[in-house]
Amino acid sequence: MSLIVNGTAVPAPADARVSLLDHLRETLHLTGTKKGCNQGACGACTVLVEGERILSCLALAVQYDGRQVTTVEGLAQDGALHPLQAAFVEHDGFQCGYCTPGQICSAIGMAAEAQRGVPSYLSDDLSADTTLTRAEIQERMSGNLCRCGAYNGIIDAIQATIAPKVPA
Ligand code: FES
Ligand code: FES
Repeated sequence: MSLIVNGTAVPAPADARVSLLDHLRETLHLTGTKKGCNQGACGACTVLVEGERILSCLALAVQYDGRQVTTVEGLAQDGALHPLQAAFVEHDGFQCGYCTPGQICSAIGMAAEAQRGVPSYLSDDLSADTTLTRAEIQERMSGNLCRCGAYNGIIDAIQATIAPKVPA
């Protein structure tokens, strides 16, 4: 049984009770993914599984046998930051940085959801326009908390990079 983390096959834990978050951090030493609440309330542990954002603290690692997991460490390519990572720097999207890996993974997954036409709480109906306006981004990112209150910079970074690529 194995998972594919950032493109590399790694063994799943022998203990089926181990969360994906703990497996990433404690066994694989991928400490970019953060543990905040450990109960699904803060978004700090967000990673991508085949492009979909999940809370790794609420997931068992063995559930992801054979699946592609991407953590913040897997976003940079050939030593270059992912455009959203660079935008967080440019737009002051963080202070302490603790929430940042989760924010970035969540934003990438969020943009894919909008592109697929997945409605949000703000949508008038299930077929509503999913253009990523500032209000839509705020709503769709509301599961990712930032104790430093860097929200304006976070939304600016997302608007500058991801939102323009989502067709209206
Ligand atoms: S650590 Fe997973 S949601 Fe807070
Ligand atoms: S930058 Fe400190 S919690 Fe978000």
